[in-house]
Amino acid sequence: MRVLVTGAAGQLGQDVVRTLSARGHEVIARTREHLDITDAASVRSAMEGTSPDLVINTAAYTAVDAAETEVDKAFAVNATGALYVAREAHRCGAGIVHISTDYVFRGESSRTAAYKPDDLPSPRNVYGASKLAGEHLVRQSNPRHWIVRTQWLYGNGGSGNFVETMLRLGSGNRTLRIIDDQVGSPTFTAHLAEAIVELLTEAPGTYHRTNSGQCSWFEFAQAIWQMAGMKPTAQPILTEEYGAAADRPRFSVLGDDRGPAWTQGLADYMSRRSP
Ligand SMILES: NC(=O)c1ccc[n+]([C@@H]2O[C@H](COP(=O)([O-])OP(=O)(O)OC[C@H]3O[C@@H](n4cnc5c(N)ncnc54)[C@H](OP(=O)(O)O)[C@@H]3O)[C@@H](O)[C@H]2O)c1
Repeated sequence: MRVLVTGAAGQLGQDVVRTLSARGHEVIARTREHLDITDAASVRSAMEGTSPDLVINTAAYTAVDAAETEVDKAFAVNATGALYVAREAHRCGAGIVHISTDYVFRGESSRTAAYKPDDLPSPRNVYGASKLAGEHLVRQSNPRHWIVRTQWLYGNGGSGNFVETMLRLGSGNRTLRIIDDQVGSPTFTAHLAEAIVELLTEAPGTYHRTNSGQCSWFEFAQAIWQMAGMKPTAQPILTEEYGAAADRPRFSVLGDDRGPAWTQGLADYMSRRSP
């Protein structure tokens, strides 16, 4: 298959390109530098120039806190950009895989059941609202769509991802305050890329794909430090105490129990990362 990948320099984009190539697909990898998805004319000419069978849109505005003030920027990429990619793919007869997020859900603290793909979204923050708008626009503009919601991603090229941040902070001396009342499934992008490629044998629709199992950020941090042989002093705190600009779901597990455990994802990432 001939597959065009947008956002190819991102954490997930890199692993999608690698996984598709390893499976013998012809990959057209486009980073933001070569294809800005907010530029309708560029999106059209990229599709017409390459005639893909499938487009995988991993490009996104992912700065969750900054999105609270950069509302237009977040919607331009996550909603309008997604529309352009889905619509132009359809014009060329291509399907689209579009990546979305657990942040489309409210994730009340009282919740204990994993979300199912047809549960009602109700985002708490601008980023989540922009991604939800993107989902709607993709569904409406390309009937051959696979919308893949995932969460808590970390992978190569993500110097600001949670694992890298904890490894950096873990080598210092100060007491670290880590949120303990948000629960999710940390997901290694290499595992997600495999799951995305496997999903293509399924009918178009909305799917949840993550590593299996669940933990809080505090528990995730403990696992990272344990695997790295670090023992920083850390204190569990509540979301309100952390005071981030964007509110976040407290429990937004997406209930995918078919893939490797999140602890396995972390172990694989740690063994592959270049120090
Ligand atoms: N990270 C998470 O925890 C998480 C959780 C759930 C869902 N997701 C979703 O998963 C997908 C992949 O996330 P990720 O973690 O791989 O994100 P990432 O590392 O931030 O990669 C996103 C890529 O998109 C590029 N991009 C931004 N604006 C663009 C534009 N206008 N045109 C083309 N490319 C553009 C970025 O380029 P620049 O770096 O130059 O801006 C970056 O290379 C996204 O849809 C995201 O919403 C992520």
